[in-house]
Amino acid sequence: MELHSASKCIAFFLLPLLASVHYAQAHPGRPSIHSIFSFGNSYADTGNFVKLAAPVFLVMPFNNLPYGETFSGRPTGRASNGRITMDFIASEFGLPFVPPILGKERNFTRGANFAVVGATALDLAYYLENNITSVPPFNSSLSVQLDWFQKLKPTLCSTPRGCRDYFKRSLFFMGEFGGNDYTFLMAAGKSFGEVASYVPKVVGAISAGAEAVLKEGARYVLVPGQLPTGCIPIVLTLYASPNKRHYDRRTGCLRKYNALARYHNGVLFEAVYRLRIKYPAAKIVYADYYAPLIDFLRKPKKFGFSASSKLRVCCGAGGPYNYNMTAACGFPGATACANPATHINWDGIHLTEPAYERDFLSKKTPCRDELPKKTTSGSI
Ligand SMILES: *[C@@H]1O[C@H](CO)[C@@H](O)[C@H](O)[C@H]1NC(C)=O
Ligand SMILES: *[C@@H]1O[C@H](CO)[C@@H](O)[C@H](O)[C@H]1NC(C)=O
Ligand SMILES: *[C@@H]1O[C@H](CO)[C@@H](O)[C@H](O)[C@H]1NC(C)=O
Ligand SMILES: *[C@@H]1O[C@H](CO)[C@@H](O)[C@H](O)[C@H]1NC(C)=O
Repeated sequence: MELHSASKCIAFFLLPLLASVHYAQAHPGRPSIHSIFSFGNSYADTGNFVKLAAPVFLVMPFNNLPYGETFSGRPTGRASNGRITMDFIASEFGLPFVPPILGKERNFTRGANFAVVGATALDLAYYLENNITSVPPFNSSLSVQLDWFQKLKPTLCSTPRGCRDYFKRSLFFMGEFGGNDYTFLMAAGKSFGEVASYVPKVVGAISAGAEAVLKEGARYVLVPGQLPTGCIPIVLTLYASPNKRHYDRRTGCLRKYNALARYHNGVLFEAVYRLRIKYPAAKIVYADYYAPLIDFLRKPKKFGFSASSKLRVCCGAGGPYNYNMTAACGFPGATACANPATHINWDGIHLTEPAYERDFLSKKTPCRDELPKKTTSGSI
């Protein structure tokens, strides 16, 4: 496994952040990263959803093999066959995998993960008030995750000054958020134009979340954008079109859904820019989850993926994209492919471990040469 070079490439996506941490490290008295706090949905959950769902649902796909089969040989609550992006980043910083706040680990000194599968940027109450009932089963939106963070705070630090000093040395992940909001709006029968009209509101919530941690003293904040939604097999299956022109010729993705993701990302990028101006002492980075995936689909072989199955799910049950909602991964009827390492998509929605690992390895990113060197083990 190319962990070394891959982690350098992951680091490239964090380059502005790493460079500043490196600078801090080289200047005595400045802090280094000692913990990671993460907020988000199924692209970041490392075990919260399965804990919430255990008393409620009889069967939970993420709690069944083949989830987790590749890295740990057992399901971990991650929506993948192995590690997710955040795991690779934690390793890059010499930190343990970020423990889920609802999991067995009770020592959150080195970070906590508040992300929950299905989480939205907007409050659950907002959807319910607007008669949108196609919402996630749990009250786990961004503001709720921030409440959990506030409850955890007294166990980490005790004075306002002490807390600011603590969070100054933490890395904060604010997302991905928004994908579920648009999914639930679409499932509620909103037109495409109506869904797009929610973008500023959704981005406003993400930006407010980032600002909440900045006000706590956060210095390093990462705000991921949307994946190219039109390339996700569940979307390709649910919104399949007989009209060839609805598909991008090179990638095979649905153009309209990618346009929505790009619109969201553009508005989010601007919001991040405004936060940078407002909080000049902090390093606030927009993380691009869109371009790397498009690169994989345009040149799958270059990144080690199979060209013929680039849009086909690894763990599925047949159909043009090997995705069948009534026999999804983790349920009877679905089986994992023999070679997950050559697949980009794992279960119809989430990526495989190698795709998460190579997420930031794109031809535009000079991964190997331009990274600051590690100064000490355990910190960058
Ligand atoms: C929590 O972990 C940190 C280091 O990871 C350690 O220094 C500390 O003693 C632990 N706290 C408890 C209560 O075990
Ligand atoms: C939601 O539905 C209820 C009952 O059908 C109705 O009274 C209310 O006006 C609706 N609210 C909105 C915002 O559409
Ligand atoms: C969700 O939880 C928050 C507390 O974190 C609470 O204020 C809110 O009313 C809850 N929303 C719903 C719809 O239950
Ligand atoms: C999807 O799976 C269900 C249950 O296994 C099966 O009945 C159905 O025929 C499948 N649909 C397709 C399109 O393969």
